[in-house]
Amino acid sequence: MVVPRECQDQVTTFQRTDEESQSEKAPRQLNSSSDSTPANSAVATRTPSIDGDSTEKPAQKSTDAKLVRNTSVFTWRNLTYTVKTPDGDRVLLDNIDGYVKPGMLGALMGSSGAGKTTLLDVLAQRKTDGTIHGEIMVDGRPLPVSFQRSAGYCEQLDVHEPFATVREALEFSALLRQSRETPREEKLAYVDTIIDLLQLRDMEHTLIGKVGAGLSVEQRKRVTIGVELVSKPSILIFLDEPTSGLDGQAAFSTVQFLRKLADVGQAVLVTIHQPSAQLFSQFDTLLLLAKGGKTVYFGDIGKNAHSIKEYFGRHGCPCPEDANPAEHMIDVVNGSLSKGKDWHQVWLDSPEASHQKQELDHLISDAASKPPGTVDDGHEFATPMSEQVRLVTRRMNKALYRNVDYVNNKVALHIGSALFNGFTFWMIGNSVSKQQEVLFACFNFIFVAPGVIAQLQPLFIERRDIYETREKKSKMYHWFPFTTALIVSEVPYLVICAIAYFLPFYYTVGFPSASNKAGAVFFVMLVYEFIYTGIGQFVAAPAPNAVFASLINPLLIGTLVSFCGVLVPYAQIQAFWRYWVSPTTSL
Ligand SMILES: Nc1ncnc2c1ncn2[C@@H]1O[C@H](COP(=O)(O)OP(=O)(O)O)[C@@H](O)[C@H]1O
Ligand SMILES: [Mg+2]
Repeated sequence: MVVPRECQDQVTTFQRTDEESQSEKAPRQLNSSSDSTPANSAVATRTPSIDGDSTEKPAQKSTDAKLVRNTSVFTWRNLTYTVKTPDGDRVLLDNIDGYVKPGMLGALMGSSGAGKTTLLDVLAQRKTDGTIHGEIMVDGRPLPVSFQRSAGYCEQLDVHEPFATVREALEFSALLRQSRETPREEKLAYVDTIIDLLQLRDMEHTLIGKVGAGLSVEQRKRVTIGVELVSKPSILIFLDEPTSGLDGQAAFSTVQFLRKLADVGQAVLVTIHQPSAQLFSQFDTLLLLAKGGKTVYFGDIGKNAHSIKEYFGRHGCPCPEDANPAEHMIDVVNGSLSKGKDWHQVWLDSPEASHQKQELDHLISDAASKPPGTVDDGHEFATPMSEQVRLVTRRMNKALYRNVDYVNNKVALHIGSALFNGFTFWMIGNSVSKQQEVLFACFNFIFVAPGVIAQLQPLFIERRDIYETREKKSKMYHWFPFTTALIVSEVPYLVICAIAYFLPFYYTVGFPSASNKAGAVFFVMLVYEFIYTGIGQFVAAPAPNAVFASLINPLLIGTLVSFCGVLVPYAQIQAFWRYWVSPTTSL
């Protein structure tokens, strides 16, 4: 599914080429060209690459003019990060210095496990454990309260709400993260600027979808970058391995795009793994880390990696003519070409290192003497709480409405089990002799819960992970709007489900049709819908994953059901369980 449910009527022609539109009587041969990722093929063919062609140039110029420019210098000095492990303290970052200035595209490199992601996380204030020593400063001053949302951070994995369209995802981020003084129209206008910049116009109304069934990896990456850019990151943008998983062409266009961002005045820091020589030459500076988070090189890359070749050449490892300098230096530092040298020590003793130290000290004192480039508004979250609740709830409502599988299954489960239950106890009526059957007929209603909960929890956990991994860390919104939205978005479906169960059940069982009696039963059913949804969410919230949650469910539901007074009559229940408050007792 590539288009939102409510827009499907308008785009039937487009949909016919979509493999999943089974409801359409589309000629089969039209579908034959689609592969397992129909959205990709449908959209990708119409998407120009990021670097664009010459016809785009004038439009691009005006877009560039509208982009915000960073004015702050971001520095870190003697940064050390230690975590506690069972074998004692482990140093993950060792006295790292560095800076990012507006207009600078910095590369952070090192072999896998060198500590690149750790450094980005520490710089972006996203580490909750471990101890951090050293200084991280903006304009030579301590970090502002709003730092986490003033810095963009694109994680390696592109985590997005799958049922939002590209435009909605960008608008959501813009509305929540731009400062509260900015008028709404201006925030939305900036979304258009970014859509043009990232050339997302062709797919702005398509759903992001899940990995493998939605946007392609490269398109998702662009959305991730867009989501960060629309928040007008006033200090800098971090990107963790934006090119990993992309093919050569896509990687090149992504880096070219970052180059363009830097050229218009953004400060960008990127971790990058095994870049080609062509990619590598797009960057201005390099921070090279060796295992254990030790600096091996920090400074300019130079034209055609000239400075780096010169540095390693001087220390006995010249880069061969035909070699990729990026790969050569990694080999020198970690691999076969290391010549037994401690390259960290080589760096510390080099004139470049002392030059960079002076440069850094100069940058900090210079920036500190000037007025700050970014003004801190003193708010942790950009928007007020009421606005957060409104926006998050609206997004969650839309996501649930578009989740056709979820909603249909839920209603079908209710109707199905109601009919099954109703025909099992067909017209038992309400006579005194039938009281036991009446009780069991009502009791059976409890068992819609396990089915629905099993469906609800994976969805809940997916949502929670989106919040935990990205939106919470960039201070988009507080946890309160998140939980409110989760609960509120379920309400309409729970009411529908209660009706969907009540009608087929109540009248097939032949219970009294007086409205005071029927109404009371319906009310209790409605309340139960809310209770079991709450229980499901309660179990899912702390669960590490959906499988774990599904193991806890029977335990909890089993206990609640066993001691509610139906299976064991109330008088015979052991004292402990009798006073155990089971919400199912009231059913
Ligand atoms: N919280 C932690 N506790 C212990 N070790 C960690 C922790 N976080 C990361 N590490 C270790 O630090 C090293 C660097 O990790 P990372 O920054 O993810 O590397 P990369 O350079 O590939 O991004 C790895 O060896 C990893 O196992
Ligand atoms: Mg990493």
